[in-house]
Amino acid sequence: MSYLDELYSLDRKTAVVIGGGGVLAGIMAEGLAKAGANVVILDLNLENARKKADELTKYNVKTSAIKVDASSKTDLENAAEEIIKEYGAVNIIINAPGINSATPFLEISEEEYEKIMNVNLKSIYLSCQIFGKQMIEQGSGGSIINISSVSSGPPLSRVFTYSLSKAGVNNMTQYLSKEWAMHKIRVNAIAPGFFPAEQNRKILTKERIDSIFNHTPMNRFGDPNELIGATIWLASEKASSFVTGAVIRVDGGYTAMTI
Ligand SMILES: NC(=O)c1ccc[n+]([C@@H]2O[C@H](COP(=O)([O-])OP(=O)(O)OC[C@H]3O[C@@H](n4cnc5c(N)ncnc54)[C@H](O)[C@@H]3O)[C@@H](O)[C@H]2O)c1
Repeated sequence: MSYLDELYSLDRKTAVVIGGGGVLAGIMAEGLAKAGANVVILDLNLENARKKADELTKYNVKTSAIKVDASSKTDLENAAEEIIKEYGAVNIIINAPGINSATPFLEISEEEYEKIMNVNLKSIYLSCQIFGKQMIEQGSGGSIINISSVSSGPPLSRVFTYSLSKAGVNNMTQYLSKEWAMHKIRVNAIAPGFFPAEQNRKILTKERIDSIFNHTPMNRFGDPNELIGATIWLASEKASSFVTGAVIRVDGGYTAMTI
């Protein structure tokens, strides 16, 4: 085994990728599979989850897809049971379900507020509780990677509830890193900058794009493939063994500067 393989290989690990039917988490799932992990894709959109799971079999790993509403405790509990039966253990979790809306603050309905908070934040609390408990019982540690955003603070204009939910993701990441260090479960977050994807397609107007680029030292969008390095690094027991409670920004420098 080469030095890099030894440091980064995810051979024989089981990764659960929630929201893996989407653009960013789909690419992250592919990175994990290429590094040797078996991958279970959980998503509300079963068709996309299946497509991704099927695609990843070319890396000679075991994969499957399960339909879940990630904000439903029952759905996640049923999925966890199925995964343990099929794979025996869970070692890596990527929590990435996400929805967004650019409703002006005074027009945000309670219903919309709750929906975004449920999909973006409650889902991660539930996933950590259900899969984290499983990791604690297994007794061999694990890596949880929550997908935050550069909107987590200071907040991003026009997306109030989304920004609020992502601030909560950072806080939960830090909280659990302390509580679960004794179980050798590392809990970190990746905060992507701006990557064109499904959930933000409607929000990225020409004016908005100009403003984002002007504020991003690298003056461009990210390519989803640029999230793979941070994902494998944080997933690897060896490469990031002393990293927990961190929010890793992959944003072309967006959060490094004001104007
Ligand atoms: N694209 C960006 O620029 C960007 C930037 C920062 C953070 N993020 C975050 O990255 C993550 C992935 O987003 P993306 O940009 O790839 O968008 P995407 O829309 O392509 O992916 C989101 C996925 O979440 C799934 N999903 C939505 N509601 C769900 C639910 N209730 N249960 C289970 N799955 C559900 C969708 O079906 C979809 O597959 C999100 O958490 C998002 O907030 C994205």
